[in-house]
Amino acid sequence: MRTRSATRLTIFAVILLTALYGWGQETQSSEDQRLNLEAHVGKMTGQARVGQPIYKRFCIGCHGPLGDGQGENAQWIDPKPRNFTTATFRCRSTPTGTLPTDQDLYDTIGRGLVNSNMPHWLPLTNHDRVNLVAYVKHFSPRWLKEKSGTPIEIPKEPEPTADRIKVGQTLYQKLECWKCHGVEGRGNGPSADTLTDDENRPIRPFNFHDSEKFKCGTADWQMYKDFMTGLDGSPMPSFVDNVKPDEAWDLVFYLRTLQPMNSKEKQIAKQLGLKPIAGAAQPPANNPQ
Ligand code: HEC
Ligand code: HEC
Repeated sequence: MRTRSATRLTIFAVILLTALYGWGQETQSSEDQRLNLEAHVGKMTGQARVGQPIYKRFCIGCHGPLGDGQGENAQWIDPKPRNFTTATFRCRSTPTGTLPTDQDLYDTIGRGLVNSNMPHWLPLTNHDRVNLVAYVKHFSPRWLKEKSGTPIEIPKEPEPTADRIKVGQTLYQKLECWKCHGVEGRGNGPSADTLTDDENRPIRPFNFHDSEKFKCGTADWQMYKDFMTGLDGSPMPSFVDNVKPDEAWDLVFYLRTLQPMNSKEKQIAKQLGLKPIAGAAQPPANNPQ
C-alpha cells in the first residue's frame, strides 16, 4: 500500500512540475514575444528591446517598472500616469475601444499631455521615440493578439460661417456636452463633480475658456478626432454614431468660440451676439413659480 501511494505521489509531483514548467515557459515566451514587438512610423522601425533602457532612464519614475502607472513619483501627481498594461489610450485616431496606431503613440510622446505632468519628449531623437512606442506596447499582451484600429476618416475642413457656428451650438446642447462641460463650456456641468476615470479616480471635464491647447493636439482636426473617437479611459465618450462629419466640423467651430484666443470663429460669434445655451439645470427665464 505504502509503495503504491508513494508511486502515486511521485506521478502527481511529476505532472505538477511538468505543468508548472510548461506554464513558466509560456509566460517566459509571452514576455519574450512582447519584447520582440516593433513599432512602425513612416520609414522608422522601433524595437521594444532597444526602447527598454530609454524607458528606464526617462519614463519609469512615473509609469513604473511594470508599466502600470505606479512609478515612484506617481503618488505626487494628478492626473496619474497612464497604466500601459490595459492598452487603453486617450489620444487615438482609431475608433473607441480599439488600439491606437503606432503613429498616435509616437505623436503623443512627442507632444506630451497639457494640463498634466506628462512632458513632451522632443529632446529625444525620433528613433528613441519610436523605440519607446514599441516598449510601451510591450506592457500589454493585447498587442500580440490585436491589430490597431483603422483611423477614422476626417473630411476636408470647411470654412467656418455664422450658420455653422449656430448649428454647432445646437449640437452642443442636443448631444448634452454641457452636462459635463457646462453650459458655457467651463468644465462645470451638473455631472462634472461625479465623473471618474477607468480606475475610479475623480476626473474633470475640459474647461474650454482655460486654454487654447488640448491634450490630444490643438489643431481643428485633432479636436474633431477627440469627440469622434472619444478619450478612452476617461468619461469623454465617442460621438461618431450620433454626429455626421459635416456636423462635427460645426461643433469644432462652436467650441472655438468659447476659447480664449481671438479666432475667426470668436469674431463671428461676437458679430452674431451669440449667447451661451440655456442648460436644463437652469429654470426658464419666466418661471411662473
Ligand atoms: C513626470 C511624470 C511622467 C513622465 C516622466 C512620463 N510620463 Fe507619460 N504620462 C504621465 C501622465 C501624468 C500621463 C497621463 C496624463 C493624463 O491623463 O492627462 C501620461 C500619459 C502617457 C501616455 C498615454 C497617452 C494617452 O493617449 O493616453 C503615454 C503613451 C506616455 N505617457 C508615454 C510616456 C513615455 C514614453 C515616457 C518617457 C519618455 C513618459 N510617458 C514619461 C506622466 C509622465
Ligand atoms: C460624460 C461626460 C462628458 C460628456 C457628455 C462630454 N465630455 Fe468632453 N470631456 C469629458 C472629460 C472628463 C474630458 C477630459 C478627459 C481627460 O482629461 O482625460 C473631456 C474632454 C474633452 C475635450 C478635450 C480633449 C483633449 O484633447 O484635451 C473636448 C474637445 C471635448 N471633451 C469635447 C466634447 C464635446 C464636443 C462633447 C459633446 C458632443 C463632449 N465633450 C461631451 C467629459 C465629457
